[in-house]
Amino acid sequence: MPKDNQTLAVKLNQRRLILKELLASGEREIRVLECYGGFGFIYGRVYRGVRATGLVLEYNHAKAKHLASQRDTDRGPDGKGGWIVVQARTEMAIGAGIGKWIPFNILDCDPHGSPWDAIGAYFKKPRAHGPVLYVVVTDGLPVLKTKVEPSRINVLMPYVRKYGEMTVRANYAAIAKELFIDMASKAHWRCENFDFQQRPNEVAHWSAKLTWDPTLNPVTAPVKEKKR
Ligand SMILES: C[S@@+](CC[C@H](N)C(=O)[O-])C[C@H]1O[C@@H](n2cnc3c(N)ncnc32)[C@H](O)[C@@H]1O
Repeated sequence: MPKDNQTLAVKLNQRRLILKELLASGEREIRVLECYGGFGFIYGRVYRGVRATGLVLEYNHAKAKHLASQRDTDRGPDGKGGWIVVQARTEMAIGAGIGKWIPFNILDCDPHGSPWDAIGAYFKKPRAHGPVLYVVVTDGLPVLKTKVEPSRINVLMPYVRKYGEMTVRANYAAIAKELFIDMASKAHWRCENFDFQQRPNEVAHWSAKLTWDPTLNPVTAPVKEKKR
């Protein structure tokens, strides 16, 4: 299979598993924050089938226009809207609080490079929430950091200081988990599991299930490994 198709297959599987879990838990409303909409391949293959709604961000004009024509943006007057499609820089829009009134249950982050600015912005400020939030991520940083020194990537600097450059380079999966838990737990989300997949020299795909816990002590939040 060509590399891109393998990547797409992993992306689709990750999301299908999450939807299966959400639906099995009795959740009937799938509300997605799709941080990087692209041409809506994932929506067409996954979210459309379960009548998900939510907010999709994309900075490219032609793609944003396509996303708006692809989705139902105009659902009934019952308070339950359809998709909101916004042409914007994701990190800035989330940082400015876009969609903070929507209790998303999936944060879908599929950028071309690093996902951390978007994830960091999401957890930085208070937002509406349900009991559970699944986070699903394509993470280009492991590929990026083979070309760039980890110490020159802002989000990794505290870990370079803590563990040293070589350790960060060699153990990105563990670093990503620690960084993610740090961000999420400060927003009172407990990480129930963290599943990291990566083939050598390729982008990583990871996902996590978070449960809302207002009593969470951010520093000591434990995490279970997902059994495979
Ligand atoms: C990997 S593609 C997303 C594919 C998409 N998930 C799909 O199902 O088709 C990444 C997208 O992010 C967009 N993008 C890149 N940087 C962005 C930014 N800072 N803000 C918003 N969109 C961005 C690109 O135009 C590209 O369409």
